[in-house]
Amino acid sequence: MGFTDFDPPAPAAERGSPPTSPKPARVRRDDFYDTPIVDGKPVPNTPLTRLRDRLRALFLTAGEREEAHLEASLRRLPGVSRTNIVATLSPKGGCGKTTSTFLTGNVLASHLRLRALAVDLNPDFGTLADLAPDRGRAPLSLVDLLRDKEGISSPGELRPYVSRLPSGLHLLAAPPDPAVMAQMTPELYGELLAFLRRFYEVILLDLGTGVTAPIATFAVDHADQVVVVTTPEWITNTKVQMALGHLRLEHATLVLNKVEGTAAQHATERQFSHDRIAQRVAVPADLQLKTMLDSGTFSLPGLGRATRVAIKRLGLAVGTQLA
Ligand SMILES: Nc1ncnc2c1ncn2[C@@H]1O[C@H](COP(=O)(O)OP(=O)(O)OP(=O)(O)O)[C@@H](O)[C@H]1O
Ligand SMILES: [Mg+2]
Repeated sequence: MGFTDFDPPAPAAERGSPPTSPKPARVRRDDFYDTPIVDGKPVPNTPLTRLRDRLRALFLTAGEREEAHLEASLRRLPGVSRTNIVATLSPKGGCGKTTSTFLTGNVLASHLRLRALAVDLNPDFGTLADLAPDRGRAPLSLVDLLRDKEGISSPGELRPYVSRLPSGLHLLAAPPDPAVMAQMTPELYGELLAFLRRFYEVILLDLGTGVTAPIATFAVDHADQVVVVTTPEWITNTKVQMALGHLRLEHATLVLNKVEGTAAQHATERQFSHDRIAQRVAVPADLQLKTMLDSGTFSLPGLGRATRVAIKRLGLAVGTQLA
């Protein structure tokens, strides 16, 4: 029989309703791979391997167990449904606002895979962008971005304005000249934020010292959550507690930074126990962290476990309050 012998199909009008072909049975991926695959290799799940895993878990230290638990919790967090603004502030200078912004942003970028940007809103000589390695530092500032924004329509065009860190976090610097920053009004910050919302899922605002200056009020009004930073000294705690009276605290994290020993930490925790701050995280005073920050070589895995765990707790505290 040649190709020409078969009957041509009837015209559509004669055929009536279109033919329905039987649906192929859907093969699920789990039916195909009946053992879990890790790094491209099947992981056996036998009584012997289960016993081995249980014995291994038994010999984990409490620290290792907590870190594994934190890692799992961080990776289980859902993504965001809109851009979230996180404002970091404190009535005290030098307590770790910039550090907390930076550390939180790194964890949100590396563990939650969020497009995260930290913005330096210090009125003068902000240090946030200096935490980027020198070779990855963008030359331009938020004032330049505000001026040029009409010509920017894709993320790649932000490259001259934002520094990129190995974690995936981006940093946007304040201008080097405080007189230029002084010309920024809340309206202009509003324009900048509206523009940045198009590119980022989380925007972290690193504020200067104080909670009632116009820029701080602007940031808190626009923030979905705040991070309030304190250190374990009586004077700082007293000022921070007074500042809390000026803030909405439905979604807030208290960072107790530069903790040495546990006595001061416990005293601070007692002092803040009656405040409505749901999340409290203590970060140890850590010389290695300080050196990493100062040399532009921050690496979370390179830190000791106590500080690493504290930073992951901070990421989780903020991460669980994202919307
Ligand atoms: N947990 C920590 N362990 C060791 N050093 C720290 C820690 N947190 C912050 N530092 C160091 O303390 C100094 C001040 O920190 P940071 O710049 O974050 O404070 P800040 O509140 O933003 O200051 P400013 O009021 O000047 O903006 C920096 O040198 C920083 O590296
Ligand atoms: Mg700072």
